[in-house]
Amino acid sequence: MPTAVINPRIRGFICTTAHPAGCAANVRTLIDLARAGGPGKGLGTVLVVGSSAGFGLASLATSIFGYGADAVGVCFERPAAGDKPGTAGFYNLAEMHRQAKTAGRKLTTINGDAFSHAIKQQAIAALKALGRPVDLVVYSLASPKRKDPDSDTVWGSVLKPLGDAYTAKTVDLDSDQIKDVTLVTATAEEKAGTIKVMGGEDWKLWIDVLAEAGLLAPTCRTVAYSYIGPKVTHPIYRAGTIGAAKDHLEATGRELNVRLAKTGGGAWVSVNKALVTQASSAIPVVPLYIALLYKVMKTKGSHEETGEQIVRLFKDHLAPGRQPKLDEQGRIRVDDWEMDPVVQAEVDRLWQSVTSDNLQSCSDYAGFKTGFRRLFGFEVPGIDYAAPVELGAELA
Ligand code: NAI
Repeated sequence: MPTAVINPRIRGFICTTAHPAGCAANVRTLIDLARAGGPGKGLGTVLVVGSSAGFGLASLATSIFGYGADAVGVCFERPAAGDKPGTAGFYNLAEMHRQAKTAGRKLTTINGDAFSHAIKQQAIAALKALGRPVDLVVYSLASPKRKDPDSDTVWGSVLKPLGDAYTAKTVDLDSDQIKDVTLVTATAEEKAGTIKVMGGEDWKLWIDVLAEAGLLAPTCRTVAYSYIGPKVTHPIYRAGTIGAAKDHLEATGRELNVRLAKTGGGAWVSVNKALVTQASSAIPVVPLYIALLYKVMKTKGSHEETGEQIVRLFKDHLAPGRQPKLDEQGRIRVDDWEMDPVVQAEVDRLWQSVTSDNLQSCSDYAGFKTGFRRLFGFEVPGIDYAAPVELGAELA
């Protein structure tokens, strides 16, 4: 495989290059956090669906290095081709495989469409090869579309309000200017499509195929991730198409919980904090909210990244022997520090006054930008970006 000097190529919320050494360093940071945050044992076998980035990647690191698990991960990533680098998720997992091997843990990655029957069956075969039923299933997919596993229908997920058209401040990630964005009301078809992609149907299908294959340990736990967020994103997030999908995901969690609790297991949705990931950067309004939130939470000393969020989720709720603490709707809340009324009041105050002119001082926009570039392995401390790097990597 060739080597090359790799620079970020960014447009809006898309970055088309990724740096293997930067991604590897990010993963080592996650692993260090996981090791420091867990006992190093307690979980046998874990399945993570959406294992290559964001909350799923942090869940994989915490399972393997915080709780001693062997794991199967499912993701949708692209290796390098010629002189074109692979995706960040591919490089993330290449390092996770290297580190798991060094630690004597088994990790298998199934790279393909998690919504398809074929990929589910490949994951089942990989889990069977581990020879033990699954103790924990983490469902952490964020996808713009889903192909029906039984037909040619492709559903799309959209980010639109369900009520009236909504106008709000947003930051243009290319010009760094604050503008108004208007999002028009979703059609019934768009709402239904978003529920198909980001709701709970596919999570339940995964649990069904695992059960059919006899791979669910009697005390198996499963978790999927949701978001609620503040007043300013409410019309496009929680009261929008994606919120309808999250309602469906949460209802699926309650249904699965009844089923799994019969043998001592459980299913929950964890409501997590707003964080810079590839998925959240694509949502209008949200990057500006995140920049203000980071400013407030960093000042208060309560800021967490994906690694810290997931370590706390496992430690306080999900780890074997822990009984999850739930809100009145049966959800785990690790967004509690974000939703602290003092934090929200301060974010709200800043939201009223933020403009293009005071963006840098009023918010942690610089932190948002760095966080975004780091997702792709750029601006990671200690990396020599002038040096050529090997583009090839393996998930083995
Ligand atoms: P992400 O974009 O960082 O990661 C998404 C993962 O899904 C990647 O591993 C990707 O490879 C995988 N994936 C996507 N389509 C796939 C497919 N067809 N087949 C196999 N794998 C596929 O996303 P992020 O932000 O970690 O989101 C994960 C979950 O967490 C989502 O449900 C999201 O709504 C939720 N969440 C995110 C928050 C945030 O602020 N980022 C906050 C709270 C919840």
